[in-house]
Amino acid sequence: MMADYLDRIGAGKVLLDRAPFSFDWTPPALVGRDTELRELASMFTGMESHGVSSRAVITGPVGSGKTVMTRRFGEDLQRMLDGRRKIILAHVNCRNHPSTSQVLQQIVLSLDSGHPERGFSSGEIIQSIRRNLNAHDSHLLLVLDEVDALIRREKSDLIYKLLRIDEGRDQQGSLSLMLVSQDVSMLKLFEAAIISRLGESNILNLQPYDAPALMGIARQRYEEACKPGSVGDDTLAKIGRFAADTGDARLAIELLEAAIRRAEKAGRGDVLVEDVRPSTLRAASVEPSQVDNLSKHQKLVLLGICRRLKKADEISSGDARKLYNLVCEEFEARPRSYTTFWKHLKALETQGLIETRTANASVGRGRTQHITMTNTAPAVLESRIEKEFQ
Ligand SMILES: Nc1ncnc2c1ncn2[C@@H]1O[C@H](COP(=O)(O)OP(=O)(O)O)[C@@H](O)[C@H]1O
Ligand SMILES: [Mg+2]
Repeated sequence: MMADYLDRIGAGKVLLDRAPFSFDWTPPALVGRDTELRELASMFTGMESHGVSSRAVITGPVGSGKTVMTRRFGEDLQRMLDGRRKIILAHVNCRNHPSTSQVLQQIVLSLDSGHPERGFSSGEIIQSIRRNLNAHDSHLLLVLDEVDALIRREKSDLIYKLLRIDEGRDQQGSLSLMLVSQDVSMLKLFEAAIISRLGESNILNLQPYDAPALMGIARQRYEEACKPGSVGDDTLAKIGRFAADTGDARLAIELLEAAIRRAEKAGRGDVLVEDVRPSTLRAASVEPSQVDNLSKHQKLVLLGICRRLKKADEISSGDARKLYNLVCEEFEARPRSYTTFWKHLKALETQGLIETRTANASVGRGRTQHITMTNTAPAVLESRIEKEFQ
């Protein structure tokens, strides 16, 4: 009794473990990327043999799982070769470390052999990395993530040197390289010598995720982080649908996390469909131009709803009708019948502009519904419609 309100501080009613929502959490398995992982693995054939090195280029839009794929693959490969070949993983985000010396410093740090000494050329540092690897009988799997940041700044000089690390030496197979970039055209910046060394067949292009894949990704986080049964299929499906506009897995995960937060804030142990709302930090998932194709009265119905939802989370269908009548008066239009109003509401819902939920208690004329607008900003639609009518 005494301090019940403090319950919310500890383990949540929904969330058991926050870790799966942290940015550096690597899932135990990737969802819906079996084919791509197999393709990547084929670029690493023969890796159990000392003396063999591989290279791969991974491209794909934001949130298509490029980074997580290099991490999952690297760890899996390391484990698979355990006892046969020692693999050291180094992951450098070139956006955070865009110069040759910064990249080399990150590599040296992951070899755990102290800082690179000053006053050496990049070629000398690379050879000292090589000696270190050979001395420990190790192979370096180096990921240069967001590599376009490095190339834009310093051309492909470092990559060329890294690809030639064993050239003219007895011992081969010091280093495998994975290059990651959003931008496929990054490859065009490379000279022919680099492209031929990378191997043209070693390019893996990740497509944006579709709704079922995004639902699966959200489901995996839920299963890893939440109480069993706390998030239903319909909720996960809505997340999948929302995130499918961009195909960005990060968005699906953020939508789930925010929905969990809303449920817990409301003191509930289950996450409901209406807890899923688009992130305000992101572009709305409905294009404002979508309203242009609505009929005149659909626009008037929507305008009334937008005006209320600028200030409130939801509006009842009864209030929506009243506001529609007011809007009609304002723009000198004759309000349509009750039935037509309902038809317009349903049409707006079908188009994803609004969401409706049937209220528990039905008042007056049977069905009362609560209308929310989760895919878009009401104020944006409001001003677009007003502009057209004025
Ligand atoms: N196939 C997948 N299965 C599980 N989680 C994924 C998958 N793809 C991406 N994610 C998760 O989505 C988020 C974004 O992925 P990330 O690899 O950072 O994308 P990118 O590097 O392409 O921008 C990360 O939290 C990542 O763990
Ligand atoms: Mg990334």
